[in-house]
Amino acid sequence: MNFSNTVLTWYNNNKEDFPWRMTKDPYKIWVSEIMLQQTQVQTVIPYYKKWIIKFPTIFDVANASDDILFKYWEGLGYYNRVNNFRIACNQIIKDHNGKIPKTVDQLITLKGIGEYTSSAISSIAFNQVNYVIDGNVKRVMARVLRLKNFSKESLNKMKIFLSANIHKGSPGNFNQGMMDLGRDVCKPKNPMCSICPIASFCMAYIKNQIEKYPEVKKQTKRLPHYTIGVGIIWNEDKILITKRKKNALLGGLWEFPGGKILKNESIKKCIKREIFEELSIDVDVLKFITKVKHSYSHFKITLHAHNCMYNTGKIVCKASDDYKWISPSQFNQFAFPKANHHIFPHIINQEAI
Ligand code: ADE
Repeated sequence: MNFSNTVLTWYNNNKEDFPWRMTKDPYKIWVSEIMLQQTQVQTVIPYYKKWIIKFPTIFDVANASDDILFKYWEGLGYYNRVNNFRIACNQIIKDHNGKIPKTVDQLITLKGIGEYTSSAISSIAFNQVNYVIDGNVKRVMARVLRLKNFSKESLNKMKIFLSANIHKGSPGNFNQGMMDLGRDVCKPKNPMCSICPIASFCMAYIKNQIEKYPEVKKQTKRLPHYTIGVGIIWNEDKILITKRKKNALLGGLWEFPGGKILKNESIKKCIKREIFEELSIDVDVLKFITKVKHSYSHFKITLHAHNCMYNTGKIVCKASDDYKWISPSQFNQFAFPKANHHIFPHIINQEAI
């Protein structure tokens, strides 16, 4: 059997029935592909199911408030994907009569859709013959073709191979088969060559050099660490939350105000200073509440949360897009970064001081 039939047969016999594989609706396939960028399948499944119930079409996304969209994305990270998605839905409504286009050339003009996503949607939803190259496919191809790195030259070799070997009748299933092979069989460490359907096509396997491809660089970069003071600012029984600027990291999410500590500054001074600088109000910084350590993809933080009492000043949002006074029972109505969630249980039901 040739390469494309081998991959397709393996996929048909081994595929997992993920919820986005039960449909040909391009919108649903698009949602899954955006969620699956940078996020593991098992994490995506519950988000995907809830999203599709809440927003069954592009029109539901276009008409939803940012806060609701973010709430349904909360925890998936890379929040700019949500902004881009909403913009792309509006583009489709305006420029394509509300119908998701079929071709890579049209799809790629939509906000947030690049080479990978346009090929994935066009092949999986519309059966168009376009191969996909994601991280998993890259690894499979590096081994099949004995390529040490992912340079432009290597990628070109992969593209030549894939355009010659993609299954022309079932390109979407072929693509998903390649991605599944990379994720479940041709793993970064301890690839399962003994059960691999394409071992007989794999140059690295044939030469008994599987561990040499692709060459893995040692990760030496240590993530930066920031110490951050945050204020749980009370005004009677309400707490102040602010919305992160749209284009910032974690943009569009709500948080407790605060910021990075300066050299030789105490946490309490930091909180008072940051709140004044960012909101133009004066607060009294009171009792320590809790300390939270959290790792994001590109940095680590330690949050030191203190209760604060609102004192004087009219709020001016200098470093945020919006603010609200809410009661602790409303936390679950807004999307917050993960680290803030660890503070909630320490606030609920407590007195301000
Ligand atoms: N990763 C991203 N999209 C995928 C899909 N449709 N199937 C398998 N793995 C994927």
